[in-house]
Amino acid sequence: MGVPLPDPDVPPGQPTPHYFDAEPTVDSDPSTIRLTLADLTIELVTDRGVFSRERIDVGTRFLLMEGPDVPDSGHLLDLGCGYGPIALTLAHRAPEATVWAIDVNDRARDLCAANARRLGLDNVKVVAPSEVPAEVRFTAIWSNPPIRVGKEALHELLSRWLRRLRPDGQAHLVVQRHLGSDSLARWLTDQGWPTERRASRKGYRLLDVAARQKATQETMSRNLSGTELKRLHREWRRRSEGRVALILDGVQNPINVGAILRSAAAFRVDGIWAVPPSAGPDHPRTAKTALGSERYVTWTDVETFDEAASAARATGFRIVGIELTDDAVALPEAELNGDVCLVLGHEDRGLSKVALAGCDGHAFVPLLGKIGSLNVAHAATTALYETRRQGFS
Ligand SMILES: C[S@@+](CC[C@H](N)C(=O)[O-])C[C@H]1O[C@@H](n2cnc3c(N)ncnc32)[C@H](O)[C@@H]1O
Repeated sequence: MGVPLPDPDVPPGQPTPHYFDAEPTVDSDPSTIRLTLADLTIELVTDRGVFSRERIDVGTRFLLMEGPDVPDSGHLLDLGCGYGPIALTLAHRAPEATVWAIDVNDRARDLCAANARRLGLDNVKVVAPSEVPAEVRFTAIWSNPPIRVGKEALHELLSRWLRRLRPDGQAHLVVQRHLGSDSLARWLTDQGWPTERRASRKGYRLLDVAARQKATQETMSRNLSGTELKRLHREWRRRSEGRVALILDGVQNPINVGAILRSAAAFRVDGIWAVPPSAGPDHPRTAKTALGSERYVTWTDVETFDEAASAARATGFRIVGIELTDDAVALPEAELNGDVCLVLGHEDRGLSKVALAGCDGHAFVPLLGKIGSLNVAHAATTALYETRRQGFS
């Protein structure tokens, strides 16, 4: 499982590269190593900037020696192939199967593909993870997984690929005990992938992971726990670029304002400027609909739209009115990147003339049915979502 680089050849002061970097920055210096197993001996070219370049990793060798028979057909996956010791062994043992060798590290993929070519193993497909066709389902996954990416990333990675096991498929993972093999096995079982220890030696565990079975409610979809929800929201928060704010240009119905506050808190709106006759956050019906979310949003009452617009611009927002004007752009085509302040108007009258004139641009929600407009709170939620969507990295 590997010791992360520090590469002794990296000059002091340079950032330490990882074997899972997409494009290793260390200079190339290829060398050849030998993999000897009971049923094959092959030479593999390795290089700097890839995992375990000087010798076959002890965990990898353990997996290849103690793993089960390889299914002789179907799709097999080497998750995190490096220069290819696992993928090439699988391809040799199951010449009729297709072996997908995936890795985020470009140099590792190039090495793996060149090693497969040189050994005449033309049943190996070396691709980036995103290039595996969506319909492919695996009979077996073999992996010495990248534990060093961190627990959260590892869980996401394993979930992503284990979901693609055939119902009768199995994964075989080698993990060092001191890097958390036992807690990983528990986590996998808790997530609905029954996991058992096949073998254990010198601090390494070989885990057999069965596919999720569809049948029972427990292993089917389930609601996320509070902690899982927090983790999920944190992940999307991290992936969000840009700030979002709102100007309420006379949104009068307190129930609508409450609903807007709820969406504003959910989409992490920086602040709301409210122009009369907008209802306020303290109105009992606003508070009832907002369900306490009002405490997460900064609310500022102003006298006029121009006052709101000046305040928004002063803090760097571009102002986009949500209104069906002759120059409005459909939301999915509107430019909503960066810091955007959306303006929402009165329930019947829409945006005031002053607001229409004072926006930097206008956007509308494209509708398909016989009803030509949305309730203002729903329009706000839709526009907030589209603005956030454009800023997701
Ligand atoms: C522990 S190494 C194993 C390499 C090789 N299978 C071996 O046994 O020598 C894990 C590999 O996973 C790759 N990796 C890291 N994150 C990945 C991801 N998200 N998807 C696919 N591969 C990834 C790393 O670049 C690294 O080559």
